[in-house]
Amino acid sequence: MVEFTLPKNSRVTQGRRWPAPLQAQDLREYRIYRWNPDDGQNPRVDTYQVDVDDCGPMVLDALIWIKNKIDPTLTFRRSCREGVCGSCAMNIDGTNTLACTKDTKDIKGAVTIYPLPHLPVVKDLVPDLTEFYAQQASIKPWLQTESVTPEKEWKQSHGDRLKLDGLYECILCACCSTSCPSYWWSSDRYLGPAVLLQAYRWIVDSRDEATGERLDDLEDPFRLYRCHTIMNCTKACPKGLNPALAIAEIKKLMVERKA
Ligand code: SF4
Ligand code: SF4
Ligand code: FES
Repeated sequence: MVEFTLPKNSRVTQGRRWPAPLQAQDLREYRIYRWNPDDGQNPRVDTYQVDVDDCGPMVLDALIWIKNKIDPTLTFRRSCREGVCGSCAMNIDGTNTLACTKDTKDIKGAVTIYPLPHLPVVKDLVPDLTEFYAQQASIKPWLQTESVTPEKEWKQSHGDRLKLDGLYECILCACCSTSCPSYWWSSDRYLGPAVLLQAYRWIVDSRDEATGERLDDLEDPFRLYRCHTIMNCTKACPKGLNPALAIAEIKKLMVERKA
């Protein structure tokens, strides 16, 4: 018989409600997904009260505040705190974004935080990105050349350099790929918007001499063509990039080279 409910051990339960800090005047509620692979318990959502007057403005500030002042076991990734490293990507208030650049003022009511969707969870807000990075490695994200290496640098015209704008800024945070329904269902075979944007970044680089091989490698019903132009990726990108456009450009090049 078909089972329409989630298995018991994957149901998210109501977690602990932590006491509010004493003497705080202005409190903000945070509801945060927790899961510990070592305790055998179901995932849960814990509720914390953050003292707004004692905490910085961003969601990452609140997570650090909670970890330092209430619950040191809360686990999340972060590094740069300025939207550059991509490590603090998570689902905040229903949207994949960076905790360090998400201002709590832009969220109404309690702040809900989950890990990036449709990835295995390592612990709490830390997703397992092993497959994502393997896909990135598979597109060979480096300059490939056959010509004799120049004495100084590989030169590029100003116009060709401009073609990389909107691509080189990608910080591989995975917000786009984990908001893409095609990636949710076929992440084992579809490369997803982040990696395809990266692939396009090398395809259009005038200095690269492996364009044909790069396109051959994407000529596959799943790796590229699982994109159905749903556009969630572009909406999600916290850096304002347009992975859907990069994918469309790759598809255009595929058609052009067959003409
Ligand atoms: S445009 Fe393509 S890559 Fe972007 S969300 Fe839609 S299906 Fe996914
Ligand atoms: S395209 Fe944007 S959302 Fe996707 S990985 Fe790069 S920076 Fe993150
Ligand atoms: S901590 Fe580096 S992007 Fe948020």
